[in-house]
Amino acid sequence: MLKLGVIGTSWIARSFIDAAHMTEKFQFSAVYSRRLESAEQFSADFKDIQKFDNLDDFFKASLDIIYIASPNALHFEQAKAAILAGHNVIVEKPAFSNPKELTQIIKLAKENEVFFFEAARNIHEHSFSIIKDFLADKTVKGADFTYSKYSSKMPALLNGEIPNKFNAKFSGGLLADLGVYLLYAAIFWFGKPQKATYDAVLLPSGVDLAGVGILDYQDYKVSIKCAGNVNSYLPSEIYTTDGTLILDGVNAITSAKFITMDGSETRIDIEAPKHSLYDEAVDFAQILENNDFAASYDLHQFAQEVSETSYQMRQSAGIVFDADNK
Ligand SMILES: NC(=O)c1ccc[n+]([C@@H]2O[C@H](COP(=O)([O-])OP(=O)(O)OC[C@H]3O[C@@H](n4cnc5c(N)ncnc54)[C@H](OP(=O)(O)O)[C@@H]3O)[C@@H](O)[C@H]2O)c1
Repeated sequence: MLKLGVIGTSWIARSFIDAAHMTEKFQFSAVYSRRLESAEQFSADFKDIQKFDNLDDFFKASLDIIYIASPNALHFEQAKAAILAGHNVIVEKPAFSNPKELTQIIKLAKENEVFFFEAARNIHEHSFSIIKDFLADKTVKGADFTYSKYSSKMPALLNGEIPNKFNAKFSGGLLADLGVYLLYAAIFWFGKPQKATYDAVLLPSGVDLAGVGILDYQDYKVSIKCAGNVNSYLPSEIYTTDGTLILDGVNAITSAKFITMDGSETRIDIEAPKHSLYDEAVDFAQILENNDFAASYDLHQFAQEVSETSYQMRQSAGIVFDADNK
């Protein structure tokens, strides 16, 4: 069993523990919170959990991997300290504020011979590989990807507060929050675009509440659309010279069908993930158990392509994080 330490005590941290336990490869063993009381409440359902309110002490614990689920802007310093203490790390998406931070962490992880994973959950879904294989003998001519969901933090935002998710100090905004899943999908299936731009609805805090992006490939364009103040029920589509692939989304995909140019329809067998974070947990455990650094370096390369694209899009929309000026 891989002893799992967790930073952060929000629902996503609990969700990852549940998914990790479903794999039967991980054992939740320690938690860090700024307040011991929160650590105790968070771990109340589990036995023999070490609880910390001091990060240095937490990093001294005997753990096989640390999962970091704090606000985005804190990931860099926490991952750096964890790696320097000799730990493997899984960092929630988007792993870092910009490519500069990501490059430093990749280098540090290599130097210290530990694993660093970005929790880009959707690319680990089984369906992602099925779709990649399906597209392998087709010529892509474009795609439209969308992910908009009314945020649970909208009431606070409308009330004049600045939740972490909408704060430049915490590297927030919708491209970082939901848009990144669309970039994971596009770059997983089509590779890194030559150029990427983003046109955003900006909040007074300086980050995006919603936006529309264009990923420019040599012979086609991919549009992405994300928002935190509305719900969208649109499917996502991939256009090819043979027909159109229609997906019910590009994360937690549950259905896919292909409609050829003459209108005939084929369903593609897609099995929805057991839990939205299960497939990534399985992959991380397998890479750790096999000591498969080569597989983790492939994921690093992918993470860099996404981070560079996202950064270019932010720059085109005039979105600057506090972390960019460090
Ligand atoms: N993969 C997914 O499906 C998914 C879904 C949601 C979020 N995420 C990612 O998970 C990460 C956390 O997101 P979230 O919405 O859970 O964030 P959050 O609620 O703002 O913060 C997460 C945790 O970080 C700590 N924290 C909060 N504010 C802090 C501050 N100002 N200084 C230091 N620590 C602070 C808190 O833990 P303590 O109070 O215990 O210290 C909190 O429970 C983000 O990177 C996000 O993108 C991923």
